[in-house]
This record gives sequence, C-alpha cells and structure tokens, in this order.
Amino acid sequence: MKIMIVGGGGREHAIAWKLSQSPRVRELVIAPGNAGTAQLGRNVAIKATDLDAQVALAQAERPDLVVVAPDDPLALGLVDRLTAAGVRAWGPSAAAARIEASKALAKEVMRRAGIPTADYTVVDSYEQGERYVRAQGRPLVVKADGLALGKGVIVAETVDETLAALRRMLREGAFGAAGARVVLEERLSGEEISLLGFCDGRTVVPLLPSQDHKRLLDGDRGPNTGGMGAYAPVSRVDRRLAEQLTATILQPAVDALREMGTPFVGVLYAGLMLTAEGPRVLEFNARFGDPETQALLPLLESDLLEIMLASLEAGLHPDLVRWHADAAVCVVLAAQGYPEQPRRGDAIALPEALPEQTLLFHAGTARQNGQLVTAGGRVLNAVGLGETFATARARAYALAERIHFAGKQMRYDIGARELAR
Ligand code: AMP
Ligand code: GLY
Repeated sequence: MKIMIVGGGGREHAIAWKLSQSPRVRELVIAPGNAGTAQLGRNVAIKATDLDAQVALAQAERPDLVVVAPDDPLALGLVDRLTAAGVRAWGPSAAAARIEASKALAKEVMRRAGIPTADYTVVDSYEQGERYVRAQGRPLVVKADGLALGKGVIVAETVDETLAALRRMLREGAFGAAGARVVLEERLSGEEISLLGFCDGRTVVPLLPSQDHKRLLDGDRGPNTGGMGAYAPVSRVDRRLAEQLTATILQPAVDALREMGTPFVGVLYAGLMLTAEGPRVLEFNARFGDPETQALLPLLESDLLEIMLASLEAGLHPDLVRWHADAAVCVVLAAQGYPEQPRRGDAIALPEALPEQTLLFHAGTARQNGQLVTAGGRVLNAVGLGETFATARARAYALAERIHFAGKQMRYDIGARELAR
C-alpha cells in the first residue's frame, strides 16, 4: 500500500516510522513532513491546512490511505473532503472533530453522557462572564471555545486574573473567532494523564496511559507549550483504572458522538486530571497527542496499519492492539525562544550513531544546503526504551544530551513523578 501522511511534526514522524514497519506498506508520502520523515518517504511541501492542495496531492498520488494527523486540517474537514473525492482517509470527520475544536460542544457531550468533568458555564459576552465570576467569587479557568494553537486556556490565580482573561478574549478579541465564546470552568488540581483510544465509530480500544509535560520549565513552571516530554505507561493508572476510565469516559463519549449522528473514527484523546474526588476530563482531542505518540508508538507491538484499516471498517477489536512490556520516555528539544518566538535556522549536530535502545523523531527540522537546521518550535524528540522506566529515561536523556544546537531548550525532569513512584 501507498500511504500519505498529513502533518510535519514529531507525531507524524513517529506515525511514519511505525507505518514503515508494516509489511503491507510499500511507499510513504508526507505532506509537508520534516527532515526525519524524508528518510522514510517522500516529503511534499504543502501546508497541512491547505486543504485544496492536500486534496489535489491525494488525487495525483492516489494513495491507498491518507492519515490526517493534526487538529487543524481535521477541524477544517480534510477527511470529509478526501472521502468526497474518493480517497480513503483515516481520522474523524469535521463534525466528530468538533469534540476538540469546540470546548463548549465537548462540555455538552460530557454533560449528556454523564462523563465526569469540571463544573462550567459558557458565555459570549464579557458582562455575562463577569456576573458568573463574581457570583462564584473564586478564580476560574478561562477557555477559548475554538482552536487557539494551545494558548487558549488560562488557569487564573485570582478573580482579577480571571476577569482580565475574559476581557482579552471577549472584548479585545485576542483569539479572534476562537475566543468569541468562552467556557468558564472550576479549577481542579491533581496529576494529569492522557488516555487515547482507537475508535471505529462504535468500539474503542485504549492505548497505554501516558503523561505529557505541558509547561516549558522544570517543576511545571513557565508558560504552557505543546508539550515538552512524555512517557508511557503510567504506573498510577493500573489495568483496572485504565479499564474504568475507558468504560466511564472514552466509551460514553464515542457512544454520544454516534448518537448525535457524528460517529468518531480515529484516535480520541482524553486529557484527564486525577483529582482527590476522582478522575475528571479537562479536554478531548480528536487525534494522536504530540509528544505522547512518540512514546506510545514504539511500545505498540501490533501493526498500526491493520489497526487503522480495522477502524475504517468498523472492525476494531482489542486483540488487534498489543503492546510490548517495556517503558518509553520522550524528551522534547525545543528551539531558542519557544513557545513565544522560536528562532529558526540554527545548525543541529547529531551523534554519529544513536545510543542503544533510542529513537530520534524529528519535528521542526529542515535541510539547508545539506545542513540539518532548526525549523520550528519543537525541534527533535529523543526517545529512550527500556525494560524499566528508569532505564528508558536514562537512555532518552543520554540521547538528548548528545544533540546540540544554539539555544536548545529541554526539561530535565520528564517523568520525575514516575521515577519517584
Ligand atoms: P486543555 O487545553 O483544556 O487541556 O488545557 C490546557 C491545560 O490547562 C491543561 O493541560 C491543564 O494543565 C490546564 N487546565 C485545563 N482545565 C483545567 C481545570 N479545570 N483546572 C485546572 N487546570 C486546568
Ligand atoms: N500533548 C498535548 C496534545 O497533543 O494536545
């Protein structure tokens, strides 16, 4: 089979790497890809959000399957457009992807399905929001309804900060249309985990539990980012808890979406907080997480292509999703200035050979006159594998330390909670 992958980050490199191991995959086309995916297939320099160009590429290349990985093209309806053009595409329709693209809709789905989440209200004017905040009399979490490049959530520390965030979104239009409607929600505390599930519209089969690290700096300080590192599995989520989370969160969400006439096919991602009162959903994403995927796919024993095809044919089954018993840790290396103003064009020096049991997934990288250079916020993902978490983590850092570019940023405490356990 010839497979086309839409996207160009670390997640897409990991998907390309995993698919390239399938005995049924003959050729990969990645649009736009990065310097890492160029080693596995053919990159085509088309933006993931340029739907016309993506559809035209698929019509010209005639792949057997297109994997749409990032949130924006999913929300814009690339899967729908490809399907209408007679191209088989993996990922949710725009209607199903609204569980990520509209936080108000996600809350509505959770309310209907009885999925545990933070108390909330939805407002579309500052005055309405201010009344609610004053009545609550405590700081709240302010969330732009739409996609906002991961910046649309403000966890306020005070009532004044809550109102300031509300004002920025509803009066000053800080996030444009994405922030014209706002979810105000109760602030929760606890450990965050990611539980992703393969879905075929009806059946959901969970992946291993994983954990991202969203803040830029050690100790969960600094600004929010797309994610600075991840690991899997998470020992705190044992088999019983994972089954419970699947039954009480992922399955009811898939059932609700089907009942609403928008069945979900692809990967549904629940961002959860394990609070003292029990697990609560913070968000749903309609796709593989980044960087969770870079830790998860190396642990997947099964053929990812078979899973994707089964999910398109409503034939998903737990036996199709088998895992290695190992652990994986992914450390993200980010560019100078990330997340605000990442600098591009810094020369990257890689070790001649990768240390044992490590993988290197590219994200924002490019080749300029043969030289590997930085070309985005998150640049590379150093992944370590091992029979124990500690070994996997040591290997990830052994690789991360041997990669050099000016202004390299990384966290040194990825998986510190798991290590303490
Ligand atoms: P989201 O995009 O909704 O996952 O929000 C981004 C980050 O904001 C999450 O990973 C959490 O760290 C934080 N967050 C979101 N909702 C809440 C909440 N209700 N209480 C506390 N923190 C939250
Ligand atoms: N790792 C967070 C996300 O993919 O949204």
